[in-house]
Amino acid sequence: MGEAGEGGASGDGGAAGGAGGRLWGGRFAVATAPSLDRLNRSLPIDRRLWAEDVAGSRAWVAALRGAGVLTETESATLDAGLAAVAERLASWGEGEWATAPDEDIHSLVERLLGEEAGPVAGKLHTGRSRNDQVATDGRLWAMGAADRLSAELAGVAEALIDQASRHGDTLMPAYTHFQRAQPVTAAHWLLSHVWPLQRDRDRLADARRRAAVLPLGSGAIAGCPFPVDREALRDALGFEAVSPNSMDAVGDRDWAADLLYAMTMMAVHLSRLAEELVVFGTAEFGFVRFADAWSTGSSLMPQKRNPDGLELARAGAGRILGELVGLVAVLKGLPGGYSKDLQEDKRALFDAFDHLLALLPAVAGTVATLEVDPARCRAALDDAMLATDLADALVAAGTPFRAAHEEVGRVVRAAEAAGCALSALDDDAVRAASPAVAALDWRAALDAAAAVRRKAGTGGTAPAAVAAQL
Ligand code: ARG
Repeated sequence: MGEAGEGGASGDGGAAGGAGGRLWGGRFAVATAPSLDRLNRSLPIDRRLWAEDVAGSRAWVAALRGAGVLTETESATLDAGLAAVAERLASWGEGEWATAPDEDIHSLVERLLGEEAGPVAGKLHTGRSRNDQVATDGRLWAMGAADRLSAELAGVAEALIDQASRHGDTLMPAYTHFQRAQPVTAAHWLLSHVWPLQRDRDRLADARRRAAVLPLGSGAIAGCPFPVDREALRDALGFEAVSPNSMDAVGDRDWAADLLYAMTMMAVHLSRLAEELVVFGTAEFGFVRFADAWSTGSSLMPQKRNPDGLELARAGAGRILGELVGLVAVLKGLPGGYSKDLQEDKRALFDAFDHLLALLPAVAGTVATLEVDPARCRAALDDAMLATDLADALVAAGTPFRAAHEEVGRVVRAAEAAGCALSALDDDAVRAASPAVAALDWRAALDAAAAVRRKAGTGGTAPAAVAAQL
């Protein structure tokens, strides 16, 4: 069907000015082509910025009043009108949002303000552009998003810490190259997933600080010709600094990329935790068992209990990394100032944020309710994992470590050849492999609990060191 036959995209009867009364209609003789209108419209995505948009507009009203652009009466009318707009939008359901014809949230708020306040609404946009407005809204949203994500992350960290506090004495294997390496406590393992989340919270705090720079007052590109007090605006909107260059301010989306990177690293950490839990929850490992409420079944196999939430957490990192890569690719090579390409920032941010808000409580709930099986963890240890401790015992007796490694290596080989555990070798076999090892109280060195206790320095797995972490 040709565009002429499609009619107005939004049921406005194709009135001059296009969908919902464009903010820029005067210069155009005809309505926008419906296909372009559909592509260009961002209201379905940026509608969720309505509260930020109203807050920014109310602060702008005060700034215009301070600059002498508005009279006291006008600013009071506009402020009350914006408050009424906020009240209306807060009560809107899907139906109202779906039928609003406006191009974006900024146009919608201004149109509703006209309905509430009358013609004086036309003064709101004095000295302001949607370019500095959308950057202001986005940064305000990002500041709130960082706070929210940080709080949700704390929920996962607390679940891990709570489990760790119950398993300070549970011994389990730690893996390198995913091969059994050395014994650790389950608490140490669980806390190894808390510190990355703590770094994520630092990254979020940093992303928040970087977002907290006020662009409003930059106009479309060159700044504002009216003497608005940008410091007062900054203060009113809760920003920490004022953008120092209007050209940079309207084209800068570093803050969006920074927040997306922080979200990507969160998702990466969740995926690594999820992967270990999935593996440790298999029948073959059996280190953990997931609660029924956090497991799912199979439509075919009645016996199945699947960790779907963790699998989706594992996959989420791919999705969120995709959003980061997509946004950075949009930014690359853009000319200075605002270009419509930048409208894509919101879809990427909102998708990553929404997905993390779905994942984080599911991971927190799964961790909080899983049961660590101390017997299965312990049973996965074997003497060979204490070979290093045996070498350390030789070191204590004066052997250089390199030589001790060699001596113990021969004993390990002897046990392998005999098809038995190290501790099951008889003294003669050990003596044949290494007289130096045989001269030690070598069986006593093959004690996992003692081996764990010896890793007592800061960051080690000894119960005292783990208690300090907790
Ligand atoms: N909807 C736009 C966005 O999200 C708002 C800014 C539009 N500015 C403009 N000059 N067309 O980026």
